Amino acid sequence: MSLPGTLFPLTARANEQNHLELGGCDVVQLAEQFGTPLYVFDHTTIREQATRAIHAFRSRWNNVVVLYATKAYFAPFLARLFQELGVGLDVTSEGEIVIATHAGFAPEKIYLHGNNKTPEEIRAALRAGIQHVVVDSQGEISHLQSLISTLHSPITNLQCLIRLSPNIDAHTHRYMTTGVADSKFGLGIANGIAENAAREILRQKNLKLVGLHFHIGSQVFDTDALRQALNAVLDVAADWRAKFHFDFQELNIGGGWGVAYNEMQTTLDVDAFAENTTRVLREGLRARGLNENLKLLVEPGRGLIARAAVALYRVGSVKEIPQLRTYLAVDGGMGDNVRPALYGAQYTAFLANCIGDEPTREYAIAGRYCEQGDVLIERAQLPETRAGDLLAIPVAGAYQLPMASNYNLIPRPAVVLVQDGSAQLVRRRETIQDMLACDLN
Ligand code: LLP
Repeated sequence: MSLPGTLFPLTARANEQNHLELGGCDVVQLAEQFGTPLYVFDHTTIREQATRAIHAFRSRWNNVVVLYATKAYFAPFLARLFQELGVGLDVTSEGEIVIATHAGFAPEKIYLHGNNKTPEEIRAALRAGIQHVVVDSQGEISHLQSLISTLHSPITNLQCLIRLSPNIDAHTHRYMTTGVADSKFGLGIANGIAENAAREILRQKNLKLVGLHFHIGSQVFDTDALRQALNAVLDVAADWRAKFHFDFQELNIGGGWGVAYNEMQTTLDVDAFAENTTRVLREGLRARGLNENLKLLVEPGRGLIARAAVALYRVGSVKEIPQLRTYLAVDGGMGDNVRPALYGAQYTAFLANCIGDEPTREYAIAGRYCEQGDVLIERAQLPETRAGDLLAIPVAGAYQLPMASNYNLIPRPAVVLVQDGSAQLVRRRETIQDMLACDLN
């Protein structure tokens, strides 16, 4: 059986032992050495996907920055790698800021997001030297101004982008649709809230309104919705220029690039997306007489990282229910991947220790957590599988580890980074002591 090209990392192959190999490392050995569940990230895939995204946009737009949306998954090794590749960051919390700055990430390339930024986060961002904020609520503007005033040497022009709610449906999962009118994100256009915010920013002496932002959702394949959102936002820029001389320097079109989790789905073609987006943008700017040299920002999370990782699980109990189905229970589940339970996400499993064997039957892959809904895959096609076998679930790089929990007081998995035949433990497995560290008596 050949490995599906769009799901696994670029370096994936079946080796001579019929084991899955990633980054030149046999995953059966990795599982023995580091234990399971184990998340294996492939250095080559991260590098390649980031480089491809940068090239797709830079070859079509002069002034463009690819920001990585760190909520998809963040760790010091990623901060260093993205810095090296020339990618900026979209961060949403003090934790993400601290990881970035400890890793030596240049603050000029960090954008602070969040629909409810706390004063501590704003202070942390200002202390770190972050110069760009995506404003996502009207109340945040006076907070920004007053927190800047308390600094020893106040910043004179904190660059602000306003996150707009363009009222466009991205046609994705309800929980990942963020551009409609009834969303907790973004400032409304039609109701005048965004315009009020813009006017308020212009009145603040330490804030500078440099641009607009929108992000209509995640797992977006409807590029028509993106085009409509883009045009709606350009209309706002033109309207504000006429009303109060808005100087449009930066446009952030968000992330949300759709990624395939199984062979029935497709992955957004970044080159085609960049081509269409920059064409629509250029035409839209020209038609409205707006600044054609503006800085374009894109902020994919999943699109850069999802495919770069594979989750490895050991099969424990096998429960055959005659005439119904057979459950393979693994040593992970909703504690490290809540996406099937939360969004009905449909993954595919592979037998990592017999990776070339053809599937012969159907199983349900159950997690180990005390929740009936903790089923990672309802219908997995696999070769005959037994207790002790190793399962690989690809497309595990985004929104799994960062959304992991300690439900049932089970420690979260270890993470290894593989490259050219060597594996580096980049996050050790959590221990019970780690979990107890915050309990005081
Ligand atoms: N920009 C903004 C403002 C965002 O809120 C997000 C994601 C992104 C960029 C990156 O989106 P991406 O390219 O990764 O789709 N937990 C969900 C996804 C939530 C996305 C949150 N915001 C999941 O597991 O699918």
